Amino acid sequence: MQLASVVFYGRPGEQALTMFNLEGDLDQWRDARVLDCPGGPGSLSARLRGLVGEVVAVDPLYALPEEELERRALADLERTMAGLRNSAALRPDFDLEACRDQHIQALQAFLEDRRRHPEHYRNASLPELPFPDQSFDLVLSGHLLFAYAPLRNGGLSSSDDFDLAWHRLALTELCRVSRRAVHHYPAHTIERVARRHPYATSLLADLPPGWRGAFSSSCYDQGHDGCTDALQLARIMLDEPEFWPSDD
Ligand SMILES: C[S@@+](CC[C@H](N)C(=O)[O-])C[C@H]1O[C@@H](n2cnc3c(N)ncnc32)[C@H](O)[C@@H]1O
Repeated sequence: MQLASVVFYGRPGEQALTMFNLEGDLDQWRDARVLDCPGGPGSLSARLRGLVGEVVAVDPLYALPEEELERRALADLERTMAGLRNSAALRPDFDLEACRDQHIQALQAFLEDRRRHPEHYRNASLPELPFPDQSFDLVLSGHLLFAYAPLRNGGLSSSDDFDLAWHRLALTELCRVSRRAVHHYPAHTIERVARRHPYATSLLADLPPGWRGAFSSSCYDQGHDGCTDALQLARIMLDEPEFWPSDD
Protein backbone atom coordinates (compact mmCIF):
# COMPACT_ATOMS: atom_id res chain seq x y z
CA MET A 1 0.00 0.00 0.00
CA GLN A 2 1.23 3.54 -0.71
CA LEU A 3 -0.20 6.82 0.58
CA ALA A 4 0.14 10.35 -0.79
CA SER A 5 -0.38 11.90 2.64
CA VAL A 6 -0.34 10.91 6.32
CA VAL A 7 -3.71 9.48 7.37
CA PHE A 8 -5.56 10.75 10.45
CA TYR A 9 -5.78 7.25 11.90
CA GLY A 10 -5.64 6.30 15.56
CA ARG A 11 -5.48 3.18 17.65
CA PRO A 12 -7.15 2.17 20.92
CA GLY A 13 -5.07 3.16 23.95
CA GLU A 14 -4.69 -0.46 25.05
CA GLN A 15 -3.07 -1.37 21.72
CA ALA A 16 -0.81 1.67 21.93
CA LEU A 17 0.38 0.53 25.38
CA THR A 18 1.25 -2.86 23.84
CA MET A 19 3.10 -1.36 20.91
CA PHE A 20 5.18 0.87 23.22
CA ASN A 21 5.86 -2.02 25.62
CA LEU A 22 4.25 -0.10 28.48
CA GLU A 23 1.78 -2.74 29.67
CA GLY A 24 2.79 -3.75 33.16
CA ASP A 25 5.31 -0.91 33.28
CA LEU A 26 3.00 2.04 33.93
CA ASP A 27 3.63 2.23 37.65
CA GLN A 28 7.04 3.84 37.18
CA TRP A 29 5.36 6.65 35.18
CA ARG A 30 2.50 7.40 37.63
CA ASP A 31 3.74 10.94 38.38
CA ALA A 32 5.16 11.54 34.92
CA ARG A 33 4.34 14.14 32.27
CA VAL A 34 3.76 12.15 29.09
CA LEU A 35 3.65 13.42 25.50
CA ASP A 36 1.93 11.47 22.69
CA CYS A 37 3.18 12.85 19.37
CA PRO A 38 1.44 12.40 17.00
CA GLY A 39 -1.76 11.58 18.88
CA GLY A 40 -4.04 11.25 15.83
CA PRO A 41 -7.65 10.23 16.58
CA GLY A 42 -6.42 7.54 18.98
CA SER A 43 -7.38 6.92 22.60
CA LEU A 44 -3.93 6.64 24.20
CA SER A 45 -4.36 9.94 26.07
CA ALA A 46 -7.81 8.88 27.29
CA ARG A 47 -6.34 5.55 28.47
CA LEU A 48 -3.42 7.20 30.31
CA ARG A 49 -5.43 9.99 31.94
CA GLY A 50 -5.50 9.37 35.69
CA LEU A 51 -2.77 6.72 35.45
CA VAL A 52 0.10 9.17 34.87
CA GLY A 53 0.69 12.69 36.20
CA GLU A 54 -0.32 14.46 33.00
CA VAL A 55 -0.71 13.52 29.35
CA VAL A 56 -0.55 15.88 26.38
CA ALA A 57 -1.23 14.88 22.76
CA VAL A 58 0.05 16.76 19.71
CA ASP A 59 -1.15 16.60 16.12
CA PRO A 60 -1.32 19.22 13.35
CA LEU A 61 -4.98 18.35 12.76
CA TYR A 62 -6.01 19.24 16.33
CA ALA A 63 -6.42 22.77 14.92
CA LEU A 64 -9.70 21.53 13.37
CA PRO A 65 -13.10 21.71 15.12
CA GLU A 66 -14.60 18.48 16.49
CA GLU A 67 -17.05 17.81 13.63
CA GLU A 68 -14.29 18.23 11.07
CA LEU A 69 -11.93 15.97 13.05
CA GLU A 70 -14.57 13.23 13.21
CA ARG A 71 -15.41 13.56 9.52
CA ARG A 72 -11.72 13.46 8.58
CA ALA A 73 -10.98 10.46 10.85
CA LEU A 74 -13.89 8.41 9.45
CA ALA A 75 -13.00 9.28 5.83
CA ASP A 76 -9.32 8.39 6.39
CA LEU A 77 -10.31 5.15 8.17
CA GLU A 78 -12.45 4.00 5.21
CA ARG A 79 -9.73 5.02 2.73
CA THR A 80 -7.12 3.08 4.72
CA MET A 81 -9.37 0.02 5.09
CA ALA A 82 -10.02 0.00 1.32
CA GLY A 83 -6.26 0.06 0.70
CA LEU A 84 -5.58 -2.64 3.31
CA ARG A 85 -8.27 -5.02 1.94
CA ASN A 86 -6.18 -5.34 -1.24
CA SER A 87 -2.80 -5.09 0.40
CA ALA A 88 -0.19 -7.81 0.01
CA ALA A 89 1.52 -6.39 3.12
CA LEU A 90 -0.96 -8.01 5.53
CA ARG A 91 -1.26 -11.63 6.67
CA PRO A 92 -4.41 -13.18 5.13
CA ASP A 93 -5.69 -14.15 8.60
CA PHE A 94 -5.52 -10.57 9.94
CA ASP A 95 -9.05 -9.53 11.00
CA LEU A 96 -9.50 -6.17 9.29
CA GLU A 97 -13.17 -5.78 10.22
CA ALA A 98 -12.38 -6.17 13.94
CA CYS A 99 -9.57 -3.67 13.44
CA ARG A 100 -12.00 -1.17 11.82
CA ASP A 101 -14.42 -1.49 14.77
CA GLN A 102 -11.56 -0.91 17.25
CA HIS A 103 -10.55 2.27 15.40
CA ILE A 104 -14.10 3.61 15.57
CA GLN A 105 -14.24 2.93 19.33
CA ALA A 106 -10.85 4.66 19.72
CA LEU A 107 -12.15 7.68 17.78
CA GLN A 108 -15.18 8.01 20.06
CA ALA A 109 -12.98 7.80 23.19
CA PHE A 110 -10.59 10.38 21.68
CA LEU A 111 -13.43 12.83 20.89
CA GLU A 112 -14.89 12.45 24.37
CA ASP A 113 -11.51 12.98 26.07
CA ARG A 114 -10.70 16.00 23.88
CA ARG A 115 -14.06 17.54 24.78
CA ARG A 116 -13.22 17.17 28.50
CA HIS A 117 -9.55 18.18 28.27
CA PRO A 118 -9.16 20.48 25.24
CA GLU A 119 -6.04 22.11 26.73
CA HIS A 120 -4.25 18.75 26.57
CA TYR A 121 -4.66 18.40 22.80
CA ARG A 122 -2.20 20.75 21.06
CA ASN A 123 -1.90 21.67 17.42
CA ALA A 124 1.77 21.34 16.37
CA SER A 125 3.99 19.52 13.87
CA LEU A 126 7.29 17.77 13.92
CA PRO A 127 10.08 18.63 13.54
CA GLU A 128 9.31 21.69 15.73
CA LEU A 129 7.34 21.33 18.94
CA PRO A 130 6.18 24.29 21.06
CA PHE A 131 7.61 22.98 24.35
CA PRO A 132 10.74 23.92 26.32
CA ASP A 133 13.60 21.42 26.64
CA GLN A 134 12.83 18.40 28.85
CA SER A 135 9.14 19.33 29.36
CA PHE A 136 8.05 15.68 29.50
CA ASP A 137 9.35 12.62 31.33
CA LEU A 138 8.22 10.19 28.66
CA VAL A 139 7.59 10.85 24.96
CA LEU A 140 5.60 8.32 22.92
CA SER A 141 5.55 8.45 19.14
CA GLY A 142 3.62 6.03 16.96
CA HIS A 143 3.12 5.55 13.24
CA LEU A 144 4.69 8.64 11.76
CA LEU A 145 8.45 8.20 11.74
CA PHE A 146 9.60 5.18 9.69
CA ALA A 147 5.97 4.31 8.74
CA TYR A 148 5.79 7.35 6.40
CA ALA A 149 9.30 7.09 4.99
CA PRO A 150 9.35 6.95 1.18
CA LEU A 151 8.01 3.68 -0.23
CA ARG A 152 11.40 2.68 -1.66
CA ASN A 153 12.87 2.97 1.85
CA GLY A 154 10.31 0.69 3.48
CA GLY A 155 7.58 3.20 4.38
CA LEU A 156 4.16 4.09 2.99
CA SER A 157 4.79 7.49 1.37
CA SER A 158 4.66 8.09 -2.34
CA SER A 159 6.51 11.37 -1.67
CA ASP A 160 9.98 12.11 -0.30
CA ASP A 161 8.71 14.57 2.35
CA PHE A 162 9.77 12.35 5.27
CA ASP A 163 13.30 11.49 4.15
CA LEU A 164 16.21 10.53 6.41
CA ALA A 165 17.13 14.18 7.07
CA TRP A 166 13.56 14.90 8.24
CA HIS A 167 13.61 11.82 10.47
CA ARG A 168 16.83 12.98 12.09
CA LEU A 169 15.33 16.41 12.88
CA ALA A 170 12.08 14.85 14.17
CA LEU A 171 13.81 12.32 16.45
CA THR A 172 16.16 15.02 17.78
CA GLU A 173 13.11 17.16 18.59
CA LEU A 174 11.34 14.30 20.40
CA CYS A 175 14.53 13.80 22.46
CA ARG A 176 14.86 17.52 23.16
CA VAL A 177 11.45 17.73 24.85
CA SER A 178 11.97 14.54 26.86
CA ARG A 179 13.68 14.41 30.23
CA ARG A 180 13.99 10.63 30.44
CA ALA A 181 12.72 8.45 27.59
CA VAL A 182 11.36 8.29 24.05
CA HIS A 183 9.49 5.18 22.88
CA HIS A 184 8.77 4.81 19.18
CA TYR A 185 6.77 2.25 17.21
CA PRO A 186 7.24 0.96 14.55
CA ALA A 187 10.97 0.67 14.00
CA HIS A 188 10.29 -1.70 11.10
CA THR A 189 9.36 -1.53 7.44
CA ILE A 190 5.70 -1.77 6.43
CA GLU A 191 5.85 -5.04 4.51
CA ARG A 192 4.32 -8.52 4.71
CA VAL A 193 7.56 -9.76 6.27
CA ALA A 194 8.79 -6.68 8.08
CA ARG A 195 12.48 -5.82 8.42
CA ARG A 196 14.22 -3.47 10.79
CA HIS A 197 13.79 -0.04 9.19
CA PRO A 198 17.03 1.23 7.60
CA TYR A 199 16.35 4.77 8.90
CA ALA A 200 15.93 3.42 12.45
CA THR A 201 19.29 1.66 12.21
CA SER A 202 20.97 4.86 10.93
CA LEU A 203 19.41 7.05 13.63
CA LEU A 204 20.23 4.61 16.43
CA ALA A 205 23.88 4.65 15.37
CA ASP A 206 23.99 8.44 15.66
CA LEU A 207 21.69 9.54 18.50
CA PRO A 208 21.66 13.09 19.89
CA PRO A 209 24.40 13.57 22.54
CA GLY A 210 23.40 12.24 25.96
CA TRP A 211 21.05 9.56 24.62
CA ARG A 212 21.34 5.79 24.31
CA GLY A 213 18.88 3.40 22.71
CA ALA A 214 17.98 -0.11 21.64
CA PHE A 215 15.44 -2.01 19.61
CA SER A 216 12.90 -3.94 21.66
CA SER A 217 10.45 -6.54 20.44
CA SER A 218 6.79 -5.54 20.56
CA CYS A 219 3.79 -7.88 20.77
CA TYR A 220 1.56 -5.43 18.92
CA ASP A 221 0.06 -7.18 15.89
CA GLN A 222 -0.90 -5.04 12.93
CA GLY A 223 -0.81 -7.91 10.48
CA HIS A 224 2.87 -8.21 9.59
CA ASP A 225 5.28 -11.06 10.19
CA GLY A 226 9.00 -10.74 10.66
CA CYS A 227 10.82 -8.17 12.76
CA THR A 228 8.19 -5.94 14.38
CA ASP A 229 10.43 -4.10 16.81
CA ALA A 230 9.91 -0.84 18.67
CA LEU A 231 12.71 1.64 19.35
CA GLN A 232 13.36 2.77 22.93
CA LEU A 233 15.65 5.66 23.79
CA ALA A 234 16.75 6.84 27.22
CA ARG A 235 18.58 9.94 28.34
CA ILE A 236 21.84 8.96 30.01
CA MET A 237 21.58 9.95 33.67
CA LEU A 238 24.74 11.04 35.42
CA ASP A 239 24.01 8.74 38.36
CA GLU A 240 23.65 5.62 36.17
CA PRO A 241 26.29 3.06 37.22
CA GLU A 242 27.19 2.32 33.58
CA PHE A 243 27.93 6.00 32.97
CA TRP A 244 30.99 5.86 35.22
CA PRO A 245 34.07 3.74 34.49
CA SER A 246 34.34 0.88 36.99
CA ASP A 247 37.27 0.74 39.43
CA ASP A 248 38.35 -2.76 38.41
C1 LIG B 1 -1.16 7.22 11.35
S1 LIG B 1 -1.48 8.51 12.52
C2 LIG B 1 -0.79 7.82 13.98
C3 LIG B 1 -1.55 8.19 15.22
C4 LIG B 1 -1.18 7.42 16.50
N1 LIG B 1 0.12 7.79 17.01
C5 LIG B 1 -1.21 5.93 16.26
O1 LIG B 1 -0.18 5.26 16.35
O2 LIG B 1 -2.29 5.41 16.01
C6 LIG B 1 -0.29 9.70 12.01
C7 LIG B 1 -0.62 11.10 12.53
O3 LIG B 1 0.48 11.98 12.24
C8 LIG B 1 -0.05 13.27 12.08
N2 LIG B 1 0.99 14.08 11.40
C9 LIG B 1 1.17 14.32 10.08
N3 LIG B 1 2.26 15.08 9.88
C10 LIG B 1 2.77 15.35 11.11
C11 LIG B 1 3.90 16.10 11.57
N4 LIG B 1 4.74 16.73 10.73
N5 LIG B 1 4.13 16.16 12.90
C12 LIG B 1 3.31 15.52 13.78
N6 LIG B 1 2.24 14.80 13.39
C13 LIG B 1 1.97 14.72 12.08
C14 LIG B 1 -1.32 13.05 11.28
O4 LIG B 1 -2.23 14.13 11.39
C15 LIG B 1 -1.84 11.75 11.89
O5 LIG B 1 -2.80 11.99 12.88
